[in-house]
Amino acid sequence: MQYAIVTGASRGLGEAIARQYILQNVHVIAVSRSGNEELRSLAEKQGVDFHHISCDLSRLDELDKGLDQIAEIAFQKETHYVYLVNNAGVIDPIETVGQLEADAVQKHMQVNVTAPILFVNRCLKEANDLGVSLGIINITSGAAEKTIHGWSTYSSSKAAINRFTETLALEQESKGHTIFAYSPGVMDTDMQGEIRSSSEDSFADVGKFRKLKEEGDLRSPDEVAGVLMNLLKEPKKIENGRVYKLYDLIRK
Ligand SMILES: NC(=O)c1ccc[n+]([C@@H]2O[C@H](COP(=O)([O-])OP(=O)(O)OC[C@H]3O[C@@H](n4cnc5c(N)ncnc54)[C@H](OP(=O)(O)O)[C@@H]3O)[C@@H](O)[C@H]2O)c1
Repeated sequence: MQYAIVTGASRGLGEAIARQYILQNVHVIAVSRSGNEELRSLAEKQGVDFHHISCDLSRLDELDKGLDQIAEIAFQKETHYVYLVNNAGVIDPIETVGQLEADAVQKHMQVNVTAPILFVNRCLKEANDLGVSLGIINITSGAAEKTIHGWSTYSSSKAAINRFTETLALEQESKGHTIFAYSPGVMDTDMQGEIRSSSEDSFADVGKFRKLKEEGDLRSPDEVAGVLMNLLKEPKKIENGRVYKLYDLIRK
């Protein structure tokens, strides 16, 4: 039996990834604050289990409770493989340093950094206890490697995820788990809407992002999820710890 734990599966890329897993008959555990009835009915039609764990990842108490629920569902005697897709993410605060608010920075780091680290931590423990193999996919961003005005928090959190992925891969070398980060490029999701609504004072390059939308240059989350699924088809070829970039994968 295979499970996919997908955080942020209520919309955007997470929803598209969860849909692909359901279509591949993998049971899905979706983690987010809001639910997704379309995924639930698709799973019912496909005859796979679909669980929604309602959890605000910016709150440690909810995260702990959510992890207990997930562990109970995913790590059973019959389970042989578990995918963990750390996809939930926030872009806020888009603001220059000096104008940042403590609460927004704290929540951002909790969702983008602390939550994925603690999800991997718990799943590794459960998987190693049961002898289950894991496929860990941390969704990152090109911003991890770029310096962007107004994006200090987001670039820092995604850079942290890349380094976490590399360290994890080093520690788990030859333990049989697949571990990598996936940089999805620019996609037509709510997150891009938030980016476009920024002011030029907070984000100097906002015009470029408005143009991407106007000129139809944002990819659909379904296409981006499809590229990830193609990569997962040949797990033996995957290099643990690497950041796979959509742009490199589609150029091949
Ligand atoms: N869009 C892009 O162009 C782009 C580019 C590069 C990288 N990425 C990365 O791709 C991933 C997905 O982004 P997206 O564009 O699909 O974003 P999105 O459309 O804004 O969706 C974000 C998802 O994260 C969940 N989420 C946010 N805050 C949460 C919280 N406090 N607790 C639980 N869940 C939370 C949301 O669920 P609820 O609101 O229901 O909780 C939602 O399902 C992110 O890691 C992002 O950094 C996106």
